Amino acid sequence: MRKLEDFFNRNRAWASKLKENQPDFFMQLSKQQSPEYLWIGCSDSRVPANQIVDLPPGEIFVHRNIANVVVHTDLNCLSVIQFAVEVLGVKHIIVCGHYGCGGVKAALENKRHGLIDHWLEHIRDVYRYHQEALDGLKSDDEVFNLLCELNVKEQVANVCHTSIVQDAWIAGKELAVHGWIYGIEDGILKDLDICITKIDEIPSKR
Ligand code: CO
Repeated sequence: MRKLEDFFNRNRAWASKLKENQPDFFMQLSKQQSPEYLWIGCSDSRVPANQIVDLPPGEIFVHRNIANVVVHTDLNCLSVIQFAVEVLGVKHIIVCGHYGCGGVKAALENKRHGLIDHWLEHIRDVYRYHQEALDGLKSDDEVFNLLCELNVKEQVANVCHTSIVQDAWIAGKELAVHGWIYGIEDGILKDLDICITKIDEIPSKR
């Protein structure tokens, strides 16, 4: 092994520790996964889904991308939602953004970052939808924080507007879509008080 040997050492130590408390943990988990939660979060290394809610393997189905964006032409994200809802039967979809998001910050900057700029256009759209509220704020920090929150709300709406989620509701399945935001400065999760559980609660599209 030429590189990153430490990762393998750490992995063996981690697996042994888990097995100390529950010797059949991996054996049981290998038979099937039945998570109740789908987490759509940012790729940021500081926002690891399982760790910040302190849940072990097997509990959360995860999709992460830069700035936790849900785009209706993104086959990757749509496939994750479809599999999670229709095959795994998750009961909750959590869109979790975070303050200090580099993707949101880059979208606010007037400079080029390469290919990623195409992806960040989706966040610039969120800015445009809420331009009046954002332009009325006094400081750049307030704009940055509010855009991080508005981006979560927008992506919750995008999840709800997928045919996958709507079909689940039409079929009478129990499914709630949540919008949360995480503080990388204090490690605390905040509920943005969005919880959509049926079709007539879906935020309207402009
Ligand atoms: Co981020």
